[in-house]
Amino acid sequence: MKRAHDLTRALCLLIAAPQRRGAGAMSNKTGAGWLINRYEHLKQEPSDINEHLEILHKLAMECDSITEFGVRSGVSTTALLASFPVRYTGYDLKPLPEIKTIQEMARLSGVDAEFVVEDTGSAMIAQTDMLFIDSDHTCDHFLKELRQAPMVERYIVVHDTTTFPELAETCYAWLDTQLGYHWRMNFRFHNNNGLMVLARIGNQLKGSNQ
Ligand SMILES: C[S@@+](CC[C@H](N)C(=O)[O-])C[C@H]1O[C@@H](n2cnc3c(N)ncnc32)[C@H](O)[C@@H]1O
Repeated sequence: MKRAHDLTRALCLLIAAPQRRGAGAMSNKTGAGWLINRYEHLKQEPSDINEHLEILHKLAMECDSITEFGVRSGVSTTALLASFPVRYTGYDLKPLPEIKTIQEMARLSGVDAEFVVEDTGSAMIAQTDMLFIDSDHTCDHFLKELRQAPMVERYIVVHDTTTFPELAETCYAWLDTQLGYHWRMNFRFHNNNGLMVLARIGNQLKGSNQ
């Protein structure tokens, strides 16, 4: 299953490759090409998260299953989906209309993509390689989201940790409760509202800055 998917993922990237360089790239009708072109475009377009799209994509490339809390119009979602995981699930209380097209393009490219309208404080997620958190940035809510950690195999990534320093403090305090055994800080970025990458011990991305 994993090897077959790796092949599909490689083919998606290969087919979309010429479109990545082309100016009229968005006209590409394949789901994979559309996602990659949108990802390349969003990386360049200033937003509250564009500087982190590359690291999100890189982490996602290591994962078969991805869960996202807080999708809005799907900027981070696009970076995650452009890695062509086997399964993606995004949660949001009020996803914007753009999400419908993104889901369609992801499904066309072979990703089992699902969007769920639900409070991430009480959602019950399936086992996942990566959980990306970018929803309600209050500490109480964030702690509820962190209760999903046992369902996460590799990475928990948190956005807005500079803009909301209390989120970063909550992360460090939570890591202390893990007794340094299950999870560790893998990367911390301070730019573009901040991003923290927590990795399960033994699953860190190389080049940790912590
Ligand atoms: C900062 S935006 C997410 C941006 C998105 N990651 C992107 O890159 O475009 C936060 C999103 O979280 C959603 N949200 C806020 N509180 C939530 C909750 N309790 N449960 C689910 N979604 C929530 C909002 O509806 C909003 O779309």
